[in-house]
Amino acid sequence: MYQRVLFMYVCLCNAVSDKTIRNAVRQHHIHSIRELKCIVPLGRDCGKCIRRVRELINEEIAQLPKIDKVA
Ligand code: FES
Repeated sequence: MYQRVLFMYVCLCNAVSDKTIRNAVRQHHIHSIRELKCIVPLGRDCGKCIRRVRELINEEIAQLPKIDKVA
C-alpha cells in the first residue's frame, strides 16, 4: 500500500526538505536564495537544488498575504 509522502528532500547533499524551505520562507519572510542560505544549509555542495529552491521560494511568496500599505 501507499504511504502518503509528507515531504520531499530538495537538497540531498544537506538533507533539506521542501517543508523546511517553505517554513523558513514563511517564518522569516525570505525573498532570495541568499537570505535562505543564511538560515538553512543548502546549495553549498553540488548546487543541483538551487533551481527547485528558487521555485519553492517563489511559490511561498505568491501565497503570502500582500501587505502594500499600512494605515
Ligand atoms: S543538492 Fe543541494 S547542494 Fe547538492
